[in-house]
Amino acid sequence: MADAPAVVVENLEKAFGETKALDGIDLQISEGTILGLLGPNGAGKTTAVRVLATLLHPDSGHAEIFGYDVVRQPAEVRTLIGLAGQNAAVDELLTGRQNLRMVGRLYHMPASEVRSRSEELLERFELTDAAKRAVRTYSGGMRRRLDLAASLLNRPRILYLDEPTTGLDPRSRADVWQMIRALVHEGTTLLLTTQYLEEADRLADQISVIDNGKVIAEGTADELKSSTGGQVVEVRVTRAADLDRAVAVLSSIGDAEAARTDDQVATVAAERGVASVADAAEALRREQLDVTDLALRRPTLDDVFLDITGRVADETPSSNGDRPSGGRGRRGERRKARQ
Ligand SMILES: Nc1ncnc2c1ncn2[C@@H]1O[C@H](COP(=O)(O)OP(=O)(O)OP(=O)(O)O)[C@@H](O)[C@H]1O
Ligand SMILES: [Mg+2]
Repeated sequence: MADAPAVVVENLEKAFGETKALDGIDLQISEGTILGLLGPNGAGKTTAVRVLATLLHPDSGHAEIFGYDVVRQPAEVRTLIGLAGQNAAVDELLTGRQNLRMVGRLYHMPASEVRSRSEELLERFELTDAAKRAVRTYSGGMRRRLDLAASLLNRPRILYLDEPTTGLDPRSRADVWQMIRALVHEGTTLLLTTQYLEEADRLADQISVIDNGKVIAEGTADELKSSTGGQVVEVRVTRAADLDRAVAVLSSIGDAEAARTDDQVATVAAERGVASVADAAEALRREQLDVTDLALRRPTLDDVFLDITGRVADETPSSNGDRPSGGRGRRGERRKARQ
């Protein structure tokens, strides 16, 4: 697109005491597209969203929304954005309809417009039947949908969704995904934070992977996947106690080091494709390891994260002391999947 990008973020920094929540991140979002900001707990996603929503002052760096500076022109920025925060910002005691009306008043929208827009959004998010009930009686999925509706009340040109499906069951998650796609179809620009690699893969046009306040990789899902270097052999052991041995076995079949991806699963780059699976099967048999699954598969974004950081995405750096120094192909510096 020839137009200036909807969002430009340059070298943004924000520290809380010793913690560098944002350590110089750069982002760009083209109008009408979804940027997935993907990272584990504590990566800095919410901090980035709060800065872009003018709720938090950065220490340094620069961020613009449709040409307006988030620090110098916060009022202009606020008229352009909608935010559905990580914790649904709905009032438990009010009904769904009352919540939307209240948000409309906060935006100083004319009462008649608030009424019609609220009804339209209640309908769209399948909340019309529940609109008269207090929100405390709503399910988690209904709260999310109401929060999403509230964030759209003022027809924002850009919408920030901070982990919109965390805690939802697969069905509700799929519903939210569908609603997000419809918004983009109508031209809304979206910044979506997520810890779900699958979610970024399904929804985002571009993905920025962040970790410890830094962008550590960026590109489309396909670019990120191909940058990990092709297919992987995946083994699921019958007993979690055997995982260490399985990792050693997989590491022995080629040059690549194997890694564990959960309690019972280990993976290694399939350097020889299908032949690597045969090698793995033979080596596992020799070691008399019981496995429930052995497969060749395309890399997922989990592999991308593991490849870049040396740890799986849901494993917080502090959870086991120092970050592991091993891991296959761990790289210290930021990497661009797209050249
Ligand atoms: N107000 C604050 N005061 C002190 N530390 C903070 C504050 N807000 C965030 N942090 C710290 O900054 C880092 C980044 O936090 P942030 O909430 O941006 O992460 P996140 O990626 O949104 O994580 P999650 O997936 O858990 O929501 C964390 O180490 C967090 O503890
Ligand atoms: Mg967060």
